[in-house]
Amino acid sequence: MLSGLKIWHPFTQEALDPAPLRIARAQGVYLYTDDGRRLIDGISSWWVNLHGHCHPAIVAAIAEQAAKLDHVLLAGFSHEPVEELSALLRKVLPANLDHIFFSDNGSTAVEVALKIAVQYWKNIGQPEKRAIVALEHAYHGDTVGAMSVSAASGFTDPFRDLLFPVQRVPSAYCYRCPVGKVRSSCNIDCVEQLRRLLEEKHGEIAAVIVEPLLQGAGGMIVHPVEFLQRVRRLCDEHEVLLIADEVLTGFGRCGKMFACELAGVAPDLMCLSKGLTGGVLPMGATVCTGQVHEAFVSEDRTRTFYHGHSYTGNPVAAAAGVANLRIFETEPVFERIAKIAQIHRERLEAIREHPAVGDTRSIGVVAAIELRADDAGYFSKLRPRLYKFFLKKGVLLRPLGNVIYVLPPYVISEQDLHFIHDRIAESLALCA
Ligand SMILES: Cc1ncc(COP(=O)(O)O)c(C=O)c1O
Repeated sequence: MLSGLKIWHPFTQEALDPAPLRIARAQGVYLYTDDGRRLIDGISSWWVNLHGHCHPAIVAAIAEQAAKLDHVLLAGFSHEPVEELSALLRKVLPANLDHIFFSDNGSTAVEVALKIAVQYWKNIGQPEKRAIVALEHAYHGDTVGAMSVSAASGFTDPFRDLLFPVQRVPSAYCYRCPVGKVRSSCNIDCVEQLRRLLEEKHGEIAAVIVEPLLQGAGGMIVHPVEFLQRVRRLCDEHEVLLIADEVLTGFGRCGKMFACELAGVAPDLMCLSKGLTGGVLPMGATVCTGQVHEAFVSEDRTRTFYHGHSYTGNPVAAAAGVANLRIFETEPVFERIAKIAQIHRERLEAIREHPAVGDTRSIGVVAAIELRADDAGYFSKLRPRLYKFFLKKGVLLRPLGNVIYVLPPYVISEQDLHFIHDRIAESLALCA
């Protein structure tokens, strides 16, 4: 290894965690370490990769674009890659979302959505509508605004005093139902608290933010579609904006291009990142309705949205995004997703009754197993044990505490997917 600045790795406790593995190259679903080992990337490198690593069409698009126009600021300028990407997105997004604001990553896509929502009400003469409602178990990123709307956790505790106050309401975590019901007989009663809150305080509330249908970092919690539908209806009834954070769920993860589609719901704002470039280059985007955008168009400059990052709309990242969306048009991506979903369901069914297993859940390409644990949560002692076990067996999985999950690139072979599920079944012996 070269000597230089010591790299401070994210989400890593140097005193306890194993030394980072050096990856020399990647291809398809495989990561190759520089000492010659091959790992199956079972989590799409933090949920970003869609069509396999180093997909030739994305690699070629990046090379071609980098040689033509590497970067130019987006304030006062435009270029073909962002325009083409915007045109392709327009075809796949809910029809009401017709404006796009680019940024760099998932957290910034969320920050932008929150700021647009708050300024929207100010611009239309209702500045008192500035509170944000968010769900328990939510995760929206690591910047201060995104942490504020995320649920309180070990990640956010050191910064508690810096976070802005948020109205917190229950999420539809059926395995640990917040209102003590069971799904087979409930009437989505967990949404009642949101209903009461909006009824009483809608005059102060700018927006409700949700991870639609799947709360990722909170433990791969899958919501019934009716929950999202009810949230949408309540927002409509009480004139509150709905922000769908599709940073994780977007681009096919849940079985449709966007999770909102599965519930037939169109939000007012949507946050995109991760899969936007096929998981190759950083890019974020916040899309919104014409109605929201219109509130910012004025001869009065104070109504402008004064927000922008240096790399906003970077042409090379946008070219990767275009190539990514073309792959959806030219390859059988949704057939691959459906096959993965079917294998997940079968394999989860087979382990559901294992004594170590508390709950199994899946949606699209995501399969999760919540293990029984006295110390349930991200800091469960099961996590490091399982992480090491899977790496030893040649699979990259990063359990969220006592929740093991699989979220592979869509090109994973049936054989490799079964291999991962076989290793998970084996790992249950470590947990019983
Ligand atoms: C739903 C959701 N929103 C936002 C983010 C933040 O994205 P980023 O890590 O790119 O800032 C994440 C990251 O995992 C996420 O899952």
